[in-house]
Amino acid sequence: MFKGRSVEIAGIGAYVPEKILSNADLEKIVDTSDEWITTRTGIKERRIAAEGETTSSMMAKAADLAIKQAGISPSDIELIIGCTATPDMAFPSSACLVQKQLSIPNAGAFDLESGCSGFLYGLSIASQFIASNAMDTVLVLGGETLSRIQNWSDRSTCVLFGDGAGAAVLKPGKSGGGILNFHLDSDGTYGGALCLPAGGSAMPASKETVEKNLHTVHMDGREIFRQAVTKMTESALISLGELGMSPNDIDYYIPHQANIRIIDSVAKKLGIPKEKTIVNLQKYGNTSCASLPIALYEADKEGKIKPGDTLLMTVVGAGLSWGTMILKWGHEK
Ligand code: UT7
Repeated sequence: MFKGRSVEIAGIGAYVPEKILSNADLEKIVDTSDEWITTRTGIKERRIAAEGETTSSMMAKAADLAIKQAGISPSDIELIIGCTATPDMAFPSSACLVQKQLSIPNAGAFDLESGCSGFLYGLSIASQFIASNAMDTVLVLGGETLSRIQNWSDRSTCVLFGDGAGAAVLKPGKSGGGILNFHLDSDGTYGGALCLPAGGSAMPASKETVEKNLHTVHMDGREIFRQAVTKMTESALISLGELGMSPNDIDYYIPHQANIRIIDSVAKKLGIPKEKTIVNLQKYGNTSCASLPIALYEADKEGKIKPGDTLLMTVVGAGLSWGTMILKWGHEK
């Protein structure tokens, strides 16, 4: 249960690169078809970062919008949490790189890595600094340049992912609003089912690792699919149960945008109808840590989600890690 001062998302922003890679474009790169990708995943196209664009540069653009919507100045930010599996480099952190780009003075900054679950983990951690009165303003970033870690000859993975970024400014909320609770969980025994084997201390970069494509995404898609459906459903039910809520109390379900079949299965198990489920993966594919904030940003901009709406967000990612957050959107009127 969420304890302490209430916390809300006071500003949300997102950015996606201009370049579109369609399923038809992919047909020219690997042995695949628009029909296979559409029916198995729901994805029609994804965005690809331009040369020179990086995770931090996209995060900075998203953060700029979130800061403006929150009506704060960069100097108000006390902590920056960068959530990504594809940082510009191992260090310094993406959060520090964004701090420099936006000239944010005197803020603590660090990255957290939790696969595609990162942004929800980031929101949860950020909320605790505000709930405990330690801070008033925290910036959470979620961004990925997944196109740079794809094996473009592996059709089972390269069709799934895209680039983009999102950001949220967290501030104290009005009583009863904001984040109602969150549930975080993980199971490291599934670590091998979704990983980037080389480039870390276990397998440092070498000519051989590059030749064997070990710096690219390796995934057991069927296992991740099975786990995603089970864990996202279980996690949502735990969070709802803790608040004494049922899926009927939810105005919108915003799941991690990985695969329409995962989203539909979880929604069906929870009894949440299609018209209450936010889906945009047809346009962006799986953008990992950027998936949730891009979906939130678009749903807010389109006027779909409104202040006071109760949102259920569930995620799953490498680790295996998963989680849920239930919140009331925007400022309570
Ligand atoms: O954020 C978490 C990140 N990861 C995920 O969300 C991934 C979760 N998993 C999935 O989304 C699905 O498992 C995939 C979309 C990756 C694969 O779908 P699937 O229905 O589980 O297909 P499959 O792996 O069972 O493969 C079925 C067939 C295979 O051919 P055979 O062995 O039946 O002849 C694959 O080789 O589809 C083939 N296949 C493709 N065919 C055309 C795999 N990828 C492709 C492709 N185009 N891109």
